Amino acid sequence: MKWFTSLWQTLGKPALTLSLGFIAISAFIMGIVFWGGFNTALEATNTEEFCISCHSMESKPYQELQQTVHWSNHSGVRATCPDCHVPHDWSRKIARKMEASHDVWGWLFQTVNTDEKFEAKRLEMASREWKRFDRDNSLACKNCHDYKSMKWDTMSPLAQKQMKRAAEIDQSCIDCHKGIAHKLPDMGTARAPELIAEVGSGVTPSVGESYFSALTKPLYLDATSAEEAGTLNVATKVKVLETSGKRVKVAIEGWRKRVGAGRVIYFDFGVNILSAQLSLDSAKTPNLIRTFEEKQDPMTGLMWERVEADIWTDADYLLGDIAPLWSYAKSTYSSSCSVCHTQPEEAHFDANTWPGMFQGMLAFVNMDQDTQALVQKYLQEHSATFNKDAH
Ligand code: HEC
Ligand code: HEC
Ligand code: HEC
Ligand code: HEC
Ligand code: HEC
Repeated sequence: MKWFTSLWQTLGKPALTLSLGFIAISAFIMGIVFWGGFNTALEATNTEEFCISCHSMESKPYQELQQTVHWSNHSGVRATCPDCHVPHDWSRKIARKMEASHDVWGWLFQTVNTDEKFEAKRLEMASREWKRFDRDNSLACKNCHDYKSMKWDTMSPLAQKQMKRAAEIDQSCIDCHKGIAHKLPDMGTARAPELIAEVGSGVTPSVGESYFSALTKPLYLDATSAEEAGTLNVATKVKVLETSGKRVKVAIEGWRKRVGAGRVIYFDFGVNILSAQLSLDSAKTPNLIRTFEEKQDPMTGLMWERVEADIWTDADYLLGDIAPLWSYAKSTYSSSCSVCHTQPEEAHFDANTWPGMFQGMLAFVNMDQDTQALVQKYLQEHSATFNKDAH
């Protein structure tokens, strides 16, 4: 009873002290009530029923989950929405809940309450979700799956090959297992969703201005035909000459070798950096390619000529500035290529040596083709060939 007596004494003291003691005790009691209540509320929002109370409007994630091994399997363990989407660690759980106020806004404003709206937003939502898995190295998956407990010899040869290497570097599961619980978003032309999420899908091009391709894009002979006349490579500078509907006519400057039909346009004299590749027919089309001065490559003895090609492409994925592309390429290069060894300086090799080096390492990384093409071009254009002081 000693603590009670002392409490009584405290409470019995004059006004100022009394209120202090009172505050301390009430805060303590309220803390318990609030804490418990808060946690209960938090737990209530951490159930599948809660999630599908909203996500049943379109019901897609729920229905799709039911088609997968995470809904029913021979071990009878079921992964619920919060298992994959809400972190277990308390402070991160709160942080994720704060982020989920997005869900509430979305619900109020009915952003995904129909099938069409859901599909239209799926890529954007999935990209954000992938970023979250990236950020915590797929911790949610690892709460159930542990690389250390995997029995390699019962796995398919492909799984063994990829997964053993992934285990060595504790790789994020989502690098390779996207679309494990739901249908993958329709990637459409956005073949590199993370790249596009970073740099955007382009601006409305105006005649006379120069732009850079954010993806490898098809070329056409005119404003309407569906037949492709070649490809415009990523991060290539083009000048817009004319616009028509969803297409633009662009001028591509560069150099080509004076051998064969001369279908490949390179970024500069003597370097193996691709700007565009034309089909045989388009390379032969009169007035499509204008030619200028010639030069001999002392390394190979081949003659090169400077050219300009005027040709059509889609108006999307053209950026006004190349800086965001290079910055994305630079960060992808360092995150993907520094896993096993420090990544070589960009200027460690010249423009013609990088492709072989880079291609040789691609089996080690998980990079979509658009990103591969971009990173390779980034390395080439920042190589010793163009950056002589750095090396
Ligand atoms: C109040 C209704 C509501 C509740 C409850 C709810 N969601 Fe959502 N959720 C939405 C809406 C609406 C969106 C689309 C938000 C937008 O427009 O970007 C969304 C988006 C998402 C996304 C996409 C993430 C992103 O960044 O775009 C995920 C994942 C998700 N919800 C999972 C959950 C999980 C797991 C739960 C249960 C813990 C849950 N939701 C509870 C309404 C809700
Ligand atoms: C609640 C626990 C739990 C969570 C969380 C979880 N899984 Fe699973 N996963 C399972 C169970 C159980 C199985 C089925 C195992 C069996 O019986 O074959 C499974 C199976 C799989 C399979 C095998 C698929 C197939 O078709 O055989 C893959 C791949 C997988 N999970 C990846 C993931 C990834 C990636 C994540 C994170 C996004 C994840 N899992 C999160 C429990 C979980
Ligand atoms: C580098 C890519 C990569 C990473 C990272 C990766 N996996 Fe896999 N995983 C694969 C491949 C490839 C397969 C084989 C798929 C197939 O056979 O269709 C596979 C198969 C599996 C299987 C089924 C194995 C079998 O044959 O029964 C499970 C379960 C699985 N992965 C879980 C995970 C989990 C959990 C993580 C993260 C802790 C993870 N994987 C990380 C590439 C990867
Ligand atoms: C096994 C893990 C897992 C479970 C269980 C799971 N999800 Fe997902 N969810 C993911 C992953 C991974 C993504 C990222 C997109 C992708 O790879 O499919 C995602 C994406 C989403 C998205 C974004 C839109 C989309 O389709 O990509 C929503 C919304 C969503 N989940 C809601 C839910 C709801 C609601 C539940 C429960 C009914 C649920 N998820 C259960 C792993 C899971
Ligand atoms: C899974 C581990 C791993 C990853 C990831 C990896 N490398 Fe390597 N890299 C190696 C190993 C091992 C060697 C040495 C053996 C060899 O040459 O095959 C090497 C050698 C190299 C060399 C040769 C060095 C020299 O001076 O001759 C270059 C260049 C290189 N890597 C670049 C890259 C690039 C670029 C990436 C990203 C696309 C990358 N590496 C990702 C493991 C890795």
